[in-house]
Amino acid sequence: MSENQLPQFPEPFWRETELPTFKKLDTSIKADVGIVGGGITGITTAYLLSKQNFKVVLIDSDEILNGTTGHTTAKITAQHGLIYDEFIKHMGEEKAAKYYKAAMKAKELIEKLITEHKIDCDYEQQDAYVYTSDDGYMMQLENEMKAYEKLQISSEFLSEIPLKLPIKAAVKMHDQAQFHPLKYLKELVQECKKNGVLFYENTTAVDIEYNKHPNIVTRDGHRITCNHVIAASHFPFYDKQSFYFARMYPQRSYVLAITSKLKFPGGMYINAENPTRSIRTTPGDKGPLWLIGGESHKTGQGESVIHHYEKLEQFSSKHFDIQDIVYRWSAQDLTTIDKVPYIGPVSKGEENVYVATGYRKWGMTNGTAAAMMLADRITETPNEFAEIYEPSRFQPDPSVRKFMEINADVAKHMLKGKLDFSNNKLTELKTDEAVVTRINGTRTGIYKDKKETLHAVDTTCTHLGCEVEWNSGDRSWDCPCHGSRFTYEGSVIEGPAKKPLAKVEIPNE
Ligand code: FES
Repeated sequence: MSENQLPQFPEPFWRETELPTFKKLDTSIKADVGIVGGGITGITTAYLLSKQNFKVVLIDSDEILNGTTGHTTAKITAQHGLIYDEFIKHMGEEKAAKYYKAAMKAKELIEKLITEHKIDCDYEQQDAYVYTSDDGYMMQLENEMKAYEKLQISSEFLSEIPLKLPIKAAVKMHDQAQFHPLKYLKELVQECKKNGVLFYENTTAVDIEYNKHPNIVTRDGHRITCNHVIAASHFPFYDKQSFYFARMYPQRSYVLAITSKLKFPGGMYINAENPTRSIRTTPGDKGPLWLIGGESHKTGQGESVIHHYEKLEQFSSKHFDIQDIVYRWSAQDLTTIDKVPYIGPVSKGEENVYVATGYRKWGMTNGTAAAMMLADRITETPNEFAEIYEPSRFQPDPSVRKFMEINADVAKHMLKGKLDFSNNKLTELKTDEAVVTRINGTRTGIYKDKKETLHAVDTTCTHLGCEVEWNSGDRSWDCPCHGSRFTYEGSVIEGPAKKPLAKVEIPNE
């Protein structure tokens, strides 16, 4: 149990920022470029293209900036955990160097836009540290340091870090940064509006139809006819039989925003081992908020979600002398087979529908780099990084093994969910809790809300039929196979599923 009270509801600190609102699309329209997804990728791409006089329409199925971008820890860094030694081994020094350079170019663009538009977004230059407290990871840190040297990344190998944590070693990457992502993107949205970009919220894209041009089809049956379509919707809303769901796996992770009696010494931190711990601060109303993140696990798998928050609280309490826990929130991230995002044509030769997804947890740099690459594709400008992010790439090693692992895990969960037969008693269900039971042979998830109303849904995921599990931290039904998420009433929060969970009638006893 937590010693300190966790906030009752999840809410990211960033979302306190007042954002513009937009109406729903209620007619069919035309544009040069249609963008689906109002996060950092979609908004930055809209900005870059609208500056070059492209007519851009951006739609979001919810409110803009309420997806992964609204739930990030917002580190602007090329230090994406321990990655460069692995990349050099799997794809060679040249490509690993390009990955680093793409992230640094993204950082440069963010800095340039902040300066150009005088954006007040708590931007700070910080060093980034990946550390370990486990002897078993020493060799990996040493190898990562050698990889930094090969790639000429400005760095240091340390046995101590400024933060008071018992560590064995750390690799420091100099001159990285952090900011408030929504303060930054809110201003980019204003700039986009000045450049004529049209935004629509609560507008869900469900398909693409091809006539002479691709048409984005919305759930309400309207069409956006464009020359180019960009799926920047986290999980691509359209995959042209490219089976993205079988080439990525979803992970959830958690963040606490705390106030502490200690003084933060600066820096942004992440550990190398599991469970993950990520630490940075950001200015809050009553002094710095420490953002303590981690506890990653595959979506819909593992222990009760609230325990993950409790473990972050225990870690923070042990090391950082908590005053108060002010916010808690969680995020979902997608990881590709080789850990490099998929950015480019949705399928080979498809030159007018693009995807950008699989950023692992590094959406600020990967999302901005994606925007630069996609804008270059559309303006037919050569881009030196595009090749390594091609969604149609195939690296036999280690891709095949990872592909098998991802899909064996899915098969396991598909079967396990079907065999898990529970007959939990509804009469014992407490307020704000859920059970899985059987009603007339259907595996049914039932949530009792604060007003004691029961919400019953068929737990069969509408994507490919796995069984969803209850997420007590976010009050959602999450699928362990490819990460689809549904509200307790069954509506889709996150794909690949497009259809809601079926409602189930609870019989009167
Ligand atoms: Fe694929 Fe649920 S997300 S089966």
